[in-house]
Amino acid sequence: MDVDTALRTRGSTRAFLDRPVTRAQVTSILDAARFAPSGTNVQPWQVHVVAGPVRDRIVADVREAATHERDAHQAPFDFYPTTWREPYLGRRRACGWGLYTTLGITKGDHAAGLAQELRNYSFFDAPVGLFAFIDDDLPVGSWVDLGMFVQSVMLAAQAAGLATCPQYSWAAFHRVVRGILGTPDHMTLVCGIALGYPDPAAPVNGFRPGRLDVDGFTTWHGLGAET
Ligand SMILES: Cc1cc2nc3c(=O)[nH]c(=O)nc-3n(C[C@H](O)[C@H](O)[C@H](O)COP(=O)(O)O)c2cc1C
Repeated sequence: MDVDTALRTRGSTRAFLDRPVTRAQVTSILDAARFAPSGTNVQPWQVHVVAGPVRDRIVADVREAATHERDAHQAPFDFYPTTWREPYLGRRRACGWGLYTTLGITKGDHAAGLAQELRNYSFFDAPVGLFAFIDDDLPVGSWVDLGMFVQSVMLAAQAAGLATCPQYSWAAFHRVVRGILGTPDHMTLVCGIALGYPDPAAPVNGFRPGRLDVDGFTTWHGLGAET
């Protein structure tokens, strides 16, 4: 698969088949993603790959925490604005409503919304989960690097016929996850990535939020439309 196709066909996948992914497959994805760029080549990413009993324990403990003690858990960093404003608010709403409409969740159905949120903590049934960590003394530039690495992982997975969902939702439960993985306090859990074979029959996987066209985010200087 060429890069253009991988970029255009990757989508967040929220339903996976019960089909295993091997260590060799994950290694191959990470082996490609390690070529992601980083400022002065610091390569700040650290990855924990979970499958089998460890994955299942994390899923069980985090689902338990998310169900019964949600307010006791908080992400160690802000991912979303504390106060939303346009144009971001509108985009966020369109994304949320689009996803819920695809899932048949109606406005005000909090139980169904919560159930969908909880599916995050099962990796949407993906057999493998990746956790991306970063040292907490690294500044924002290294977080930019980490984002490029995560996208590289997702594109490499796409090219290998697998699918992914990047998941900030895990960050809220970083203490539970770190406790099971044994990662030290100075490692910040940035996000999870669900990894597996997509379920082609699941309507949720057909949800593809729209994008701005190029002129919606680009200001041209000195390159004429005709050139
Ligand atoms: C860093 C990051 C964290 C995300 N966290 C979640 C998440 O916790 N749960 C979820 O269902 N989707 C999550 N998403 C997926 C976004 O909603 C999705 O990327 C966006 O709507 C665009 O859709 P697409 O990925 O299908 O192109 C996350 C995406 C990114 C990049």
